[in-house]
Amino acid sequence: DVPVMEPFRAKVVEPIPLTTRAQREQALRRAHHNLFDLRAEEVTIDLLTDSGTGALSAAQMAAAMLGDESYAGARSFHRFRTVVEDLTSYPHVLPVHQGRAAERILFSTLLRPGQITLGNTHFDTTRANVELAGGQARDLPCPEAADLDSPHRFKGDIDLDALHRTLTGQDSPRVAAVVMTLTSNGMGGQPVSMANLAETARLCRAHGVPLFLDAARFAENAWLVTRHEPGYRDHSPREVAEEAFRLADGCTASMKKDGLVNTGGFLGLRDRDLAQRCELLLVATEGFPTYGGLAGRDLDMLAQGLVEVTDPDYLRARASTTAYLAELARAAGVAVVEPPGVHAVYLNAGRLLPHIPPHRFPGHALACALYLEGGIRGVECGSLYLGKEDEHGDPVISAPWELVRLAIPRRVYSQGHIEHVGRTLARVAQHADRLPGYRITEQPTLLRHFKSKLEPV
Ligand code: F0G
Repeated sequence: DVPVMEPFRAKVVEPIPLTTRAQREQALRRAHHNLFDLRAEEVTIDLLTDSGTGALSAAQMAAAMLGDESYAGARSFHRFRTVVEDLTSYPHVLPVHQGRAAERILFSTLLRPGQITLGNTHFDTTRANVELAGGQARDLPCPEAADLDSPHRFKGDIDLDALHRTLTGQDSPRVAAVVMTLTSNGMGGQPVSMANLAETARLCRAHGVPLFLDAARFAENAWLVTRHEPGYRDHSPREVAEEAFRLADGCTASMKKDGLVNTGGFLGLRDRDLAQRCELLLVATEGFPTYGGLAGRDLDMLAQGLVEVTDPDYLRARASTTAYLAELARAAGVAVVEPPGVHAVYLNAGRLLPHIPPHRFPGHALACALYLEGGIRGVECGSLYLGKEDEHGDPVISAPWELVRLAIPRRVYSQGHIEHVGRTLARVAQHADRLPGYRITEQPTLLRHFKSKLEPV
C-alpha cells in the first residue's frame, strides 16, 4: 500500500543536504560515533525526533503576525486559553516553554518526598521530574506491551489489575497521582484505549487519587481510537480527544508534538488551589502567567495548531506514512515494534543484529549504519540509553529491548523521502551480519546517550 495523499501542499521549501559516503564517514568520526553530535548540515533525513521539528501551516504563520507581545494580559494568551479550555475543559491553563517545564512545575508542587506516581509508562523527562521532586515513578504497562510482535491494538494501556492492587495495597497511602501518557512514547508509541482510560479514571476517583494525562500526542492517540476501538468508529478524533481530557483532572502537555509548533506547552488543571500553587512556581521560573516563557506569537501559532491537529484527513495521511515506512522495513527484513503507532517506527535492532551483544549496542550499530548508508538520523532506544556497564565494560544492566526509533516530523517529509529510508534500510539489512558493535570510550555520569563518545569494535 502506498500512503494516502496529504491534505496540504508546500508553499515554502528548505533544501536538505545531500552528502557522500566519505563525508558521512568523516562526520561520524568527528562526532565520536554519537549521532547527537552531528551538525544538521551533515544529516539528509532527520528522524531523531518528532518534537519541535514539524512544519507550520500558512494559517499559523498568519496567526504569528497577530501575536500580541504585551507582558501581561496579552490578547494572544486569551486566544490560546480559549482554544485549550474548549479542547480540554480545564479552567486553569498555564503556558510553559515545553512539556518538561509543565512536569517540573506539577510534580514539584504536588509531590512530597517518598510519594509514588503510577503510569502506563512514564516518559523519561516525566520520570526525572518525579524523581527530582523526591518521588518514585512506577510503570504498570499492560502485559501485551511486553510482546513486541503482538498485534494487540492498545499496548499503551495500563495494567488495570496492577493499578487496582497498588491502589488498595500497602503502598496506597503513598500514591500521589496516576499519569497516563498518550500515546506511550516509552512503549513504542502505542495508544491507550478509551475503555482503559475510563476505568483508570474510575479507580482513581474511587481511591481519591488525581489522574493526569501526558497529552503530548493526544491527537494521534485519538486517531488510533477512532480506527480500532469498538464504539468509537463513528467519533471524530476531536470528540475522542475531548472525552479523554474530560476523564482526567489535568494534563501536562508538550505542544512540540501535537501542538504543531516548534516550541511550547502547557499545564492544564481543574483544581483551583493546585493551580494557584503551580502558578507561583510558573511566575518564578517560566514567566508571567499570561506568557509562561513563550512569545505572544508562539501562543497564537499553538492555538491554531491545536485546531488543525485533529483534522481527520491530516491524521489519516500521517498514520498512513508511518504504516508505509513500517511496511518498507518489514519488506527489507527488519522487524518493527508491532503494530506501528503514528509518531515513529521502532526497528528491532536486537533481532537484526544477534551477533552484537547488548553492551556492544546493536541499536546504536544500526543507527550508525543508517547514517553511513543513507544520511538518515534515528535514535537508539536500547542499552546505550538504558543500560549500564562496570569499569571493564561488562554489562551490569541491559535494556529489555534493543531498538532504533525513526520518528517522523509532522508535515515535513514526502513519500520520496520515506522511500529513501526504505531503500537504505534494505541495503543495511543485506549486510547486517557484518555490522560492528560499539564500545564507549568516554561517558558522562547522567543521560549518557546524549554525550558519550564511542568507537566501533
Ligand atoms: N512526554 C512525552 C510523551 C514526550 O515524548 C516528551 C518529549 C515529553 C513529555 C517532554 O516534552 O520535550 O517538550 O519537554 N519527547 C521528545 C521525543 C523529546 O523525542 O520523544 P518536551
